[in-house]
Amino acid sequence: MYTQVSQEEASDVNAIINSKYKVVEPIARGVWGIVMVVRNIFTNELFAMKKLYGDDEVLNESLRCAWAMKPIMTHPNILNTRELFLHRNTDLTRQSDVALCYIMRYYKNQDLKSLLQKTRDRGEFLSEKQIYRYMLQLSYALECLHNHGFVHRDLKPSHVMISDDFESLYLGGFGMSQPVDQIQEQQMTSSMFKYLSPEVVDSIERKVTPESEVWTLGCIFFEMITLQIDERNLYMDWKMKGCDSFQEEIKNEILSCGFSEQLYSIVGGMLQEKPERITLDVLVQQIRGTLNYPKQIVDTMCAVCLRARHEAVSSVDSQ
Ligand SMILES: Nc1ncnc2c1ncn2[C@@H]1O[C@H](COP(=O)(O)OP(=O)(O)OP(=O)(O)O)[C@@H](O)[C@H]1O
Ligand SMILES: [Mg+2]
Repeated sequence: MYTQVSQEEASDVNAIINSKYKVVEPIARGVWGIVMVVRNIFTNELFAMKKLYGDDEVLNESLRCAWAMKPIMTHPNILNTRELFLHRNTDLTRQSDVALCYIMRYYKNQDLKSLLQKTRDRGEFLSEKQIYRYMLQLSYALECLHNHGFVHRDLKPSHVMISDDFESLYLGGFGMSQPVDQIQEQQMTSSMFKYLSPEVVDSIERKVTPESEVWTLGCIFFEMITLQIDERNLYMDWKMKGCDSFQEEIKNEILSCGFSEQLYSIVGGMLQEKPERITLDVLVQQIRGTLNYPKQIVDTMCAVCLRARHEAVSSVDSQ
């Protein structure tokens, strides 16, 4: 099992990790790990480092998962792990000894959750064009993961990093990801419950599937549009209220924020109560169709994504 992060680990500023990275400051501290800004002492570049503590079994499993996911790390909308190594504390007074360290590019704007919160605090909404661009990128990222035979299992806005110019998104947080054919019962956390699809909420085993992740992504898009950043599970909330039509409810909420019917119809296709929802490749086509840029710009924006997509599809085909 994972080991809890000790208090002093969070304030370990200036420590040198792996003879290469100097800790600058902690960014976020979870129960089992800590994310911090580190500086490469040879190049002076800043990186984010996630340090995960656990017993041998957990660390081995995390390593296996990271290795299996290596092919998707080249996707332009996936948070790339640049380096992965085990770090052993030499300070014997410490409770935990071995940690798995992930080195990633450092995104100073952090994540989609904080962007949505800040936008809401300013009393604004994201623009419809920006929403479509973000939707396209996240759909590509999830499609790539699914095409490689994985489900994410922990999709949420805080697992989506944002580029410094706010143009690009990167999906991360793959710690719970599993191959589709080996999905195990889901260990629930409150942040996961919010995004569970109707069929997963209603099941005993709570097994996430690619179809249920289309729903989850739909919830994230709904949140991006309406900025309703609370802990409610959309479907459960609607059931409790006893309203007539779930789709009508979603539609009204999207339109009342000033967005178009077209945007609703895309998100509505994802938030279908039955698992027969819109597929990610159709979704991508629909979003591309609505992005009203000259074809050339859309093509440039999507070129790398498409290349990765085709590579993913052909690697699945050739198996
Ligand atoms: N590369 C990065 N650049 C900047 N900030 C990052 C980066 N990676 C992660 N973070 C920040 O750290 C937070 C926690 O990251 P992560 O989800 O990987 O840790 P966690 O221990 O799994 O936390 P949780 O249990 O909340 O998912 C993210 O929400 C984000 O704000
Ligand atoms: Mg996480």
